[in-house]
Amino acid sequence: MRKYIIANWKSNKNPKEAIEWINIVTAKTPSDIFNYFEVIICAPTVDLPILFDKVNNSFPLKLGAQDISVFPEGSYTGEVSASLISGLAAYVLLGHSERRKLFHETDETIVKKSILALAQGLIPIICISNEDEIVQWKNYAKDKISPKDHPRIIFSYEPLSAISTGEIGRPEDPQKADEFINEIKFKNQITTCIYGGSVNPENISSLIDKDHIDGVLVGSTSLNPEKFLEVLENALPR
Ligand code: PGA
Repeated sequence: MRKYIIANWKSNKNPKEAIEWINIVTAKTPSDIFNYFEVIICAPTVDLPILFDKVNNSFPLKLGAQDISVFPEGSYTGEVSASLISGLAAYVLLGHSERRKLFHETDETIVKKSILALAQGLIPIICISNEDEIVQWKNYAKDKISPKDHPRIIFSYEPLSAISTGEIGRPEDPQKADEFINEIKFKNQITTCIYGGSVNPENISSLIDKDHIDGVLVGSTSLNPEKFLEVLENALPR
């Protein structure tokens, strides 16, 4: 299975900046990277159409949204439903710790969004910062999300102390992250779990080489296209 390298731009980059970024990255990405990794850019919704035009059919980068509405398409002014995203992106981040904290998202809401995403063919990337959040997700998902859909879902373990929020976070020790991910995958019978929090060109190889870490979510480092390219380069097997 190819591992995942997922950029999370958060609420950064307007369409002009997005196209500058993608032009640099598509020009310089090592071509063999896609033999080893599924590379996904989770961009602000406003950037998805312009990125889609750039990569569609010509470059094997995948796109992801950073959230969807908890409501389906309809009379929900200001909301972006899963169906509006589905032609543009293949993935969607759900339940990022910033959304849980700042927008009071609950585990139940995250499961409702997961159902809407799967129904539209979007693969959810469920962010969790501890084991309880995965247990709660599974509790609410029980009887609502078919177990056959579970292997497609990606979980992303992001310890709160490791996420950089304006200042540098403290990346978790790769060995510790690997052990924790192995444990939660086994106990909760999940197939895919990546790691997120202060991933950078210096620590990528020690994370991506681990047996149980299925990939990484890269936040602030991904904003700089040259740094993101360094992450890709350093992730390649030596
Ligand atoms: P960071 O963010 O890489 O800037 O720590 C990761 C995330 O919050 O997704």
